[in-house]
Amino acid sequence: MQNHADNPSIPWIPRLIKSLQLSRQSPESRYFQLATCNAEGKPSNRSLVFRAMDELHGAIFVVSDLRTDKIADLRNNDQGAICWYFAHTREQYRFDVRGTILSLIDDGKTVATYWHNMSEPGKKQFLWGVPKTPRAHREPLKANQQSNDPPEHFCVIKFTVERADYLCLKGNPQYRHLYEKQQGEWRTAHVIP
Ligand SMILES: Cc1cc2nc3c(=O)[nH]c(=O)nc-3n(C[C@H](O)[C@H](O)[C@H](O)COP(=O)(O)O)c2cc1C
Repeated sequence: MQNHADNPSIPWIPRLIKSLQLSRQSPESRYFQLATCNAEGKPSNRSLVFRAMDELHGAIFVVSDLRTDKIADLRNNDQGAICWYFAHTREQYRFDVRGTILSLIDDGKTVATYWHNMSEPGKKQFLWGVPKTPRAHREPLKANQQSNDPPEHFCVIKFTVERADYLCLKGNPQYRHLYEKQQGEWRTAHVIP
């Protein structure tokens, strides 16, 4: 185990920044999968778009809809698991996370900033109606309100990373690093993949 006490930064953060930089030409490198469990303990998994990172606190931000299942799951059990694969560099990150939901009521300023940073087609997806409710057959999807301000169901989810598992398949040797927080300090273990 390597001690990072002399370095206050979070050791997996520079690596993730580098992976994002090396893959910046491919938009799909910003998609990752999030698994949550519902109240019965049944897991489910979905793709999300990475929006931002808090480098100081080791958190990852996405936008979402308060009416979707992942929100109910996280309100019941804030633990989630993220799996993020960078095809270009053949790197996988697995993060154990805690999800915090930020709605307009909780933090209107932050939520509005994320809304205004979204593209117009991205905003429209939040204005089609309630997710998972029946839709009119063959009708095109139409925004049911203006996109100037965030709708009340628009939210930001902050995922605070508690543990990271990095795997690099490129070349020989391959690498696997386990990053864990112990007594408030991040430690890295280099392990056999
Ligand atoms: C490439 C891709 C990116 C997506 N990005 C998001 C996103 O950033 N936020 C989101 O709420 N849903 C996103 N979705 C839709 C989710 O994967 C999912 O279908 C939706 O959020 C409902 O999930 P849930 O019912 O499990 O909560 C994305 C889907 C794809 C295929």
